[in-house]
Amino acid sequence: MKILVTGGAGFIGGNFVHYMVNKYPEDEIVNLDLLTYAGNLETLKPVEDKKNYRFIKGDIADRDFIMELFQKEKFDVVINFAAESHVDRSISDPGIFVQTNVLGTVVLLDACRAFQVKRFHQVSTDEVYGDLPLDRPDLFFTEETPLHTSSPYSSSKASADLFVMAYHRTYGLPVTISRCSNNYGPYQFPEKLIPLMISRALAEEQLPVYGKGDNVRDWLHVLDHCIAIDLIVRKGREGEVYNIGGHNERTNLEVVKTILKALGKSEDLIHYVTDRPGHDRRYAIDPTKMEQELGWKPIYTFDTGIPETIDWYLNHKEWWQNILSGEYKNYFEKMYGERL
Ligand code: NAD
Ligand code: TYD
Repeated sequence: MKILVTGGAGFIGGNFVHYMVNKYPEDEIVNLDLLTYAGNLETLKPVEDKKNYRFIKGDIADRDFIMELFQKEKFDVVINFAAESHVDRSISDPGIFVQTNVLGTVVLLDACRAFQVKRFHQVSTDEVYGDLPLDRPDLFFTEETPLHTSSPYSSSKASADLFVMAYHRTYGLPVTISRCSNNYGPYQFPEKLIPLMISRALAEEQLPVYGKGDNVRDWLHVLDHCIAIDLIVRKGREGEVYNIGGHNERTNLEVVKTILKALGKSEDLIHYVTDRPGHDRRYAIDPTKMEQELGWKPIYTFDTGIPETIDWYLNHKEWWQNILSGEYKNYFEKMYGERL
């Protein structure tokens, strides 16, 4: 099989490329990525010399380029990870989220139609369901939960999902969608909560916790997400949505305190800052469909995955310190300067 992975120089796409290249030596994995601020070829170093792997730089929203690429390559499967993925950035600058997440997805769908791709898989997010109240721990997102978005990021992802489903219903395009909860693990860009807190705690810098730190996220190790996507692409039913999550809910404060404890750092580093506008309160996935239909079960719990992840960041300082020394410095100053 020839598989196009878009956004494979990012966090989840990068982990997915590693997983697929090693697991399926007979398949050809082509990684297409624009190398935005979030894309990093250092992440692909462990696989770059493998025979079944290739990298192509390009924009999923560039219609002429995508059509030419699909005509030449004749992909069997397309898995779309490419996206602008950070909620805070979407609040400052929504336009690029529409461009990449919505228009880019539609260009890929058109190319899949034109060149008879056998499966298009859209990597979506649980954020399309909006949020749940903090005082209703009995409520979870199922695949039937209505889309009800809060941020420009989640709105762009929900729009893309609607186009994916429309292409299935209208044109019979063979599609699947996965909606996963928050991921953590190796190679995550240090603007996201867990690597941000690890890198700043190590430098004894203040840790910006939004609001009261009582918002809840449902954390899944990135490897469990990758395994789930592979299963959906191979065994999932066309036209279906699959929720992915492992019932690992934690408040942000719990996450930050766990990291501080593991690193032997003081809780005095915690600094409460102005809340994110429109901040979603709680995400929580009901993964019954993945478990019953595809036999998926996560390998990691939060308690087993987080120490391993902290060790990874301790052993790969060069990977994230390179990022912190670049353009990211300006971003951090702009985003947090007046708040810290
Ligand atoms: P990321 O920001 O780390 O990586 C995104 C990648 O996409 C980068 O390599 C970037 O260079 C590339 N990209 C951006 N615009 C592009 C374009 N126009 N053309 C080609 N490539 C482009 O994101 P991530 O955290 O790895 O998320 C990957 C996908 O998973 C996204 O679609 C996101 O919505 C979804 N998701 C993320 C999480 C999470 O917790 N991080 C949870 C559920 C779903
Ligand atoms: P994030 O990693 O940005 O993921 P998402 O917003 O997609 O869930 O944030 C996870 C949670 O951590 C979210 O509730 C916002 C909070 N947060 C902070 O408290 N401080 C920070 O500096 C960041 C980046 C996030």
